[in-house]
Amino acid sequence: MSSWVIVPAAGRGSRFGGEVPKQFLDVGGRSLLAHTLDALASHPGIGGVVLVLGTEDAPVVPEAVLHGKPWVRAAGGDTRAASVLAGLRALPESVRPDDFVLVHDAARPNLHADDLDALLERGRMDPVGAILAAPVRDTLKRAGDDGGIDGTEPRERLWRALTPQLFRRLQLGRALEAADADGIAVTDEAMAMERQGARPLLVEGREDNFKITTPADFARFEFELSRRG
Ligand code: CTP
Ligand code: MG
Repeated sequence: MSSWVIVPAAGRGSRFGGEVPKQFLDVGGRSLLAHTLDALASHPGIGGVVLVLGTEDAPVVPEAVLHGKPWVRAAGGDTRAASVLAGLRALPESVRPDDFVLVHDAARPNLHADDLDALLERGRMDPVGAILAAPVRDTLKRAGDDGGIDGTEPRERLWRALTPQLFRRLQLGRALEAADADGIAVTDEAMAMERQGARPLLVEGREDNFKITTPADFARFEFELSRRG
């Protein structure tokens, strides 16, 4: 069994800064996006890729990173959720309404195959679906308006949501449409599903499946690549 993956890559990288959106920057001889696509498409559990791009973006995607998997482009929207919805609509007919599909950030290139294995294996057994996530390790403080500490939050049940996230095509589309209609900005797929009363499964993933948000994250990925050799 294999699943299609939607890769939202239509962001502008405002926190990263610079002229070129972060996903198109070169690292180790190819774009960040190419690294992400390679990590996904090289996995046997991936059946195809929907690449969601900004309307003004036309990056060169080397065929090699798609490993012969079928792929299509879609035009992204103003928010990540809108881009994912555009990606869902661009899936081929062969992906049925009840089939599981993955969503994975273009800006998260350091995905390891064992995490994808675990998510696919456990998520496909769940009626709703699942997300990769990592437990919160730091002590959490609640800040007051003056910058002083108002208290310490228990962290025992808190997790950081990562991607990929795995849901059924039709259910995810309906959940994202409902959030949009209600004017709620969801920041991941699970949040849209939770609003529908669903309880997606948390699958613990590696800490190093980090998202590149700032130049410091980019430097961290460069370091990871150099370690891989
Ligand atoms: N994304 C997208 N469409 C948008 C916004 C984001 O496809 N309208 C994608 C980004 O390209 C990225 C992923 O969603 O791969 C995660 O978003 P984020 O890290 O927030 O990237 P940006 O939105 O580009 O960065 P920023 O929020 O700093 O502007
Ligand atoms: Mg963003």
